[in-house]
Amino acid sequence: MYFERAKEKFEKLREKNSVKILAIESSCDETSISIVENGRKILSNIVASQIEIHKRFGGVVPEIASRNHVSAISNVYKEALKKANLSEKDIDAIAVTYGAGLVGALLVGVNFAKALAFSLDLPLIAVSHIMGHIAANYLTYQELVPPFMCLMVSGGHTAILKVNSYNDHELVGTTVDDAAGEAFDKVARVLGLGYPGGPSVDKFAKEGKDNIKFVSHTPMQNSFNFSFSGLKTAVINYVNNQKQRGREISVPDVCASFQSQAATELVSKAIGATKKFGEKKLVVAGGVSANSFLKEMLSKSCNENGISLYMPNLSLCTDNAAMIASAAYFMLKDGLGLSDLSLTAKATIPL
Ligand code: KG4
Ligand code: ZN
Repeated sequence: MYFERAKEKFEKLREKNSVKILAIESSCDETSISIVENGRKILSNIVASQIEIHKRFGGVVPEIASRNHVSAISNVYKEALKKANLSEKDIDAIAVTYGAGLVGALLVGVNFAKALAFSLDLPLIAVSHIMGHIAANYLTYQELVPPFMCLMVSGGHTAILKVNSYNDHELVGTTVDDAAGEAFDKVARVLGLGYPGGPSVDKFAKEGKDNIKFVSHTPMQNSFNFSFSGLKTAVINYVNNQKQRGREISVPDVCASFQSQAATELVSKAIGATKKFGEKKLVVAGGVSANSFLKEMLSKSCNENGISLYMPNLSLCTDNAAMIASAAYFMLKDGLGLSDLSLTAKATIPL
């Protein structure tokens, strides 16, 4: 019975002028709930970060992440409604990240979303975390519409996608080993900079010189695929060698050199793909898009090549539920994503 009503409501919403979606995101170490109107206007976006809790372990501990989502989620929900100045009856649909991510962490959000959808008698929309990261740009740039080329750079994914329309994309290239964010985190770890690594590497690099050559050339020059494990291993070996020889390590120089080589690979392939496919817009998505050097390099290169560059507002670069609500709206418009109460979490979702 529930699902029959949900289907009917979902179809009606596709024609409605104002649609308010409440979305839940719990794929890693951020418990976030947001309400977004028509995929573009953020009414509230509450993010309860667990970074301080995981810091002491040098990375996210899945079991601890799940437990903290459980403790945080009810209050985050209440705050999201309060901040938006709305009550439960103003919400049109519930959306939730069902993958990719840590299964135990995702399950907290998925079960909370199912309970809400059932008790409020609202349609439930299942959203891919990756599509959410792309949608962060629809919230930042009100005028942005597909088609465009997308450089996806998160902790779990690094890829180039040709986005033809809101819900249709093709994979142009992907990492064959580590994701870019993963490499930033590992480099930070060997340097003792703690978790999460990306922001620390970014910060230290500002004081350093790009004077250490870790790899001799950009890997896989004839393809749009990426490889970061060679660069990552070269940095780790360099640091360990210097330590063994009792030599001092310049953390800022290692950060600046690593960051420059990682960004060069990302920028050259993203620009190359954008040009090859004749796209005029390059959209960047995922946590690594917060990197200041990458931003600078991309702006320069896009300028030189007549490409318009789109990068999310800093607060929308990393995990948040507003981007999930936005992606859900564009799915709804295309009649996609409606889920019944058997929805479960997925560790991976093919790009
Ligand atoms: O997209 P995200 O929040 O989570 C995933 O979906 O994976 O990305 C997290 C990643 C982490 O690896 C983090 O170190 C990286 O984004 N990151 C950065 C910066 N801020 C976050 N990497 C480089 N520079 C930054 N400023
Ligand atoms: Zn993410």
